[in-house]
Amino acid sequence: MSHHSLSRRDFIRNSATAGAAIALRPQLHSPPSHPVAIASRNGLQAVARTIEEINQGSDALDAIIAGVNLVEEDPSDLTVGYGGLPNAEGIVELDAAVMHGPTGRVGAVASLEGIKYPSKVAQLVLERTDHVLLVGEGAQEFARMHGFSTENLLTDEAREIWVQWRETLSNRDDYLPPHGPDDVNLGEAFQRNEEFWGTIHCSAIDLLGNISSVTTTSGLAFKIPGRVGDSPIPGAGLYCDNDVGAAGSTGRGEANLQSCCSFLIVERMRMGDSPQDACLYACERITQNTHLARLQNESGEPAFNVSFYALNKAGEVAGARIRGPGQMAVADQDGARLIELAYLFE
Ligand code: GLY
Repeated sequence: MSHHSLSRRDFIRNSATAGAAIALRPQLHSPPSHPVAIASRNGLQAVARTIEEINQGSDALDAIIAGVNLVEEDPSDLTVGYGGLPNAEGIVELDAAVMHGPTGRVGAVASLEGIKYPSKVAQLVLERTDHVLLVGEGAQEFARMHGFSTENLLTDEAREIWVQWRETLSNRDDYLPPHGPDDVNLGEAFQRNEEFWGTIHCSAIDLLGNISSVTTTSGLAFKIPGRVGDSPIPGAGLYCDNDVGAAGSTGRGEANLQSCCSFLIVERMRMGDSPQDACLYACERITQNTHLARLQNESGEPAFNVSFYALNKAGEVAGARIRGPGQMAVADQDGARLIELAYLFE
């Protein structure tokens, strides 16, 4: 663990003490003077669209869904929607959740196949059912009932990456990548890396000061069919409270599911933490909860990454990740831009 992170930890401890004092004061309830939207780094266009929609009078929920739809339909984003990397069998399985601050309602879908806009289906679960989470065939049937048609979401680019993964996965099966007589190095071509856990999270405050959140993903690349990550799980992949703020995540979902960090971040902000301190607190929590040697590097730190993004009711925004550096997208009256994430470890 770096000296840098130790001092940050001390800082977090101090801010926790300060937070207790701040919690005794009334929370901010007045709307911000301007709307603001945040997203993971792949959401620059999404936050710009979100702010456009909000400026035209949209509720934050409709605006963020319009924003992330741009990424869900973009074949060049290999981590979300159409063009997302498939599961181990070559099938694209999508997860998404939405949360509406003013009503506290949540809707989510998981392991959804063949539907390009899982966030829209999640919104329909929120609006048109008495449930929170629909999965697999049931989620797809529900989408069809509301007029969605199914389509093949596996693009040629994603299929070729999957084939390459499959062919270099093991030297104990019969798949072989293209090769000359001496140049096959099976099993080493693909090490798990960050790109395998992409996702988009987006949260926003609208003109009325209302807050909503969405997280949508194709999940872990080459996952075991049926695997569900943190994205569609309220409290893990996203959470918002209209009186406090919102948070969401990208990265290794299994780690976040064990610590329910989006809920944790919002609760830390309720206690008085800034968005950045709350996100760093969640990174610390995951670090404390990572006990398995196979998930740690030689210094005992998490060898994977999880990133968090948060905004509070006053319109302050920030994000943090376990391993840095990294960036996130923000849009407000000054336009859309990328800002740096805080982090625990280099
Ligand atoms: N955070 C996305 C996932 O693990 O599926």
